[in-house]
Amino acid sequence: FLDFPHLPDGATRDGKPALNKYSSTVTKDHDFPGAQAMLYAAGISTKEAMKNYPQVGVASVWWEGNPCNMHLLDLGKTVKGAVQKQDMVAWQYNTIGVSDAITMGGEGMRFSLQTREIIADSVETVTCAQHHDACIAIPGCDKNMPGVVMGMARHNRPSLMIYGGTILVGYSNLLRKPINISTCYEAHGAYLFGTLSNPDDKSQSKDDILSDIERHACPGAGACGGMYTANTMATAIEAMGLTLPGSSSTPAESPAKMRECHKAAEAIKICMEKNIKPRELLTKRSFENAMVMTMALGGSTNGVLHFLAMANTADVNLTIDDFQRVSDKIPFIANLAPSGKYYMADLYEIGGIPSVMKLLVAAGLLDGGIPTVTGKTLAENIESFPSLPQDQVIIRPLDNPIKATGHLQILRGNLAPGGAVSKITGKEGTSFTGKAMVFDKESHLHVALKRGDIKHGENLVLVVRYEGPKGGPGMPEQLKASAAIMGAKLNNVALITDGRYSGASHGFIVGHIVPEAAVGGPIAIVRNGDTITIDAVNKELNVHISSEEIEQRLKEWKPPRAPVTRGVLAKYAALVSDASRGAMTDLF
Ligand code: FES
Ligand code: MG
Repeated sequence: FLDFPHLPDGATRDGKPALNKYSSTVTKDHDFPGAQAMLYAAGISTKEAMKNYPQVGVASVWWEGNPCNMHLLDLGKTVKGAVQKQDMVAWQYNTIGVSDAITMGGEGMRFSLQTREIIADSVETVTCAQHHDACIAIPGCDKNMPGVVMGMARHNRPSLMIYGGTILVGYSNLLRKPINISTCYEAHGAYLFGTLSNPDDKSQSKDDILSDIERHACPGAGACGGMYTANTMATAIEAMGLTLPGSSSTPAESPAKMRECHKAAEAIKICMEKNIKPRELLTKRSFENAMVMTMALGGSTNGVLHFLAMANTADVNLTIDDFQRVSDKIPFIANLAPSGKYYMADLYEIGGIPSVMKLLVAAGLLDGGIPTVTGKTLAENIESFPSLPQDQVIIRPLDNPIKATGHLQILRGNLAPGGAVSKITGKEGTSFTGKAMVFDKESHLHVALKRGDIKHGENLVLVVRYEGPKGGPGMPEQLKASAAIMGAKLNNVALITDGRYSGASHGFIVGHIVPEAAVGGPIAIVRNGDTITIDAVNKELNVHISSEEIEQRLKEWKPPRAPVTRGVLAKYAALVSDASRGAMTDLF
């Protein structure tokens, strides 16, 4: 199964396949002397290397100003050195990226999701334009992972991913407890409601407490530490065989992350020799694994969007209904943030993701037979990792889960004929009915929260619309709102939107509503005071008005003016598909 056909052409004298299949376009003979002159100038030092060495692109999503990404240039340097030791040429380059946490304010949040497409475009462009024979990608923050994998699926040359790694847990000196990035958001909810205090020291002001949390939530390099979007994506991609074992749980600042960078050079050579290409790894079987990991560990709703986009890019037939099917059979077993107590760095200490995969493979829930970038199967890769210790408290036994089935539910109904994604861990119940309170932008909801308009008492369903892929544009995340609601302990409030949620969001939340308001989806005609039911048992999202009334209101509805008409967001809005197809820009 793993013996992929060798390269059809270019076998060398010793009978091994030529690994410089693409770069030899410009390096063989003297057809492109200008290209060779430039490659010598850029660092190729011998004629032997020019003529015979494969060229590997090392693509990091590096930039300063974000803990998730600030260390990736250095990881890339380590990878480059290791690649060179294997008699290959390495070329480092970067793609752009943005911080999901820093984009959260004002208009910045509209620019977040579309970076996934820019990252994919960049990896595809550089690999193909520069004739790279292989690709090692080093992503960090949320959109980086699906972005690089989509780029790999497009160029389909031997590739592997090194996850930049998770951040460690922070510590608040004032509260004397471990804290994390989501502590900031939830403390903010309590801050707004005037309830932020330290029960052990009433003299501390709410400003002092929040300042202390801000200063200490992020203790160094690494992506957000809970089972938010970055760790969700990294875990899934590891379970699909596109990383070395352990990549998704190895902390950014651990020596093991450096060792992984060294090992990646050997692995990419194996991929080239065995001609293991991304599309052989991105299969229905491996996406099944991605979904299983997401359900078992309580991953982010964004996983749905990104898996769909990765699958569509690789021509794998994956639909939102596959998520429901997997959710129905996989128990939710991880006591990890946002709904639980522990972080990826804690999980690393007890064996990390390979040990969790071992449990799931043994139970027949995860497919250990899939091929991976090591040239071995997933099950073979994790063989040497320990089983989870008996006395650990992070991963529950499969026969005593937190919830017997997955936390993600695909809802349909008269408010979401094309589907919607909800995250319901069961903590807050499985169905919710309330009166609609409608906001035509997330910022309006935020103002209402700040003003104290949303109160304890009557059940409310907050409807945030015109925030879909086209309408936002850019499908911004409603993190601030959902976190503020949790922080203020407003358990009479549910939130529905055609936008997205941050992986750090939890509570009674429904997003990715299709069709979105901007294209005339029924969410556009909801009025204040309408009754809405979210029913996770029957998988429905309905507004309690007749179909005639919906039709009548839709007839009266007028599309709003496009919020942007030029620039990157206008291009994005023109090209983007709906959320049920992954919000991608090259699906024509
Ligand atoms: Fe980068 Fe959370 S902001 S992973
Ligand atoms: Mg995010």
